Amino acid sequence: MNELAHLAIIMDGNGRWAQAQNKARIEGHKAGAKIVRDITIWCAKNTIEYLTLYAFSTENWKRPKAEVNFLMKLLLKYLKSEKKTYLDNNIRFKAIGDISLFNNPLKEMILDLEECTKNNTNLTQILALNYGSRDEILRCFQKIFHKYTAETILEKIIQENLDTAGIPDVDLLIRTGGEQRISNFLLWQISYAELHFTQTFWPDFNTQELESIITNFKQRNRRFGGL
Ligand code: IPE
Ligand code: IPE
Ligand code: MG
Repeated sequence: MNELAHLAIIMDGNGRWAQAQNKARIEGHKAGAKIVRDITIWCAKNTIEYLTLYAFSTENWKRPKAEVNFLMKLLLKYLKSEKKTYLDNNIRFKAIGDISLFNNPLKEMILDLEECTKNNTNLTQILALNYGSRDEILRCFQKIFHKYTAETILEKIIQENLDTAGIPDVDLLIRTGGEQRISNFLLWQISYAELHFTQTFWPDFNTQELESIITNFKQRNRRFGGL
């Protein structure tokens, strides 16, 4: 049976979920935020160590300004209202991505939540915020460029300078919403991840479906290039 230390999810399909019900796209984002809470608590109760959720990509700035603004407001509201959930459930919160482009209240909330929950020992919930894998790798290169030469650089050094420093590689990656692509998410960290794509739009995703995906994952034969 495979151990599941790190679960990563590309939460996709909010807009299509809303469109299917003749609602505005933002209604899909609102409904999606509620699911984040359920899935996070389930993971905390089921001894998963790391849950990484793709919430906003470096490419999502291309969307209409009104949608981007709504997502920023929703994120701030979510983090504020969920602070208690993180504390009550001993969940550590961490952000990956370049949060420097966010507005001050949002940046401050992210840093505050990281600080308040840093000693929590249950699940670590990692939100990917203005995250792009290529941007993360570029920022990593910028950090290490002057310190190493071709002879002294090691895989381990790259790993330790990514936003996910200290976090094990992804074991299982789920994408909701029916697309079968990675969209610039954790390219380095998913080298040997098991992949699962589901048609379910994120606002319809639930803990029952998650449980059945994990049951299937546990029975897969992971070889890591060996036999
Ligand atoms: C995922 O849902 C949420 C974000 C990318 C912020 P989408 O907004 O991409 O929903 P679809 O894919 O258009 O249905
Ligand atoms: C990926 O979804 C990003 C997030 C879920 C935050 P997108 O909807 O942005 O991806 P594409 O554009 O379909 O590849
Ligand atoms: Mg999408």
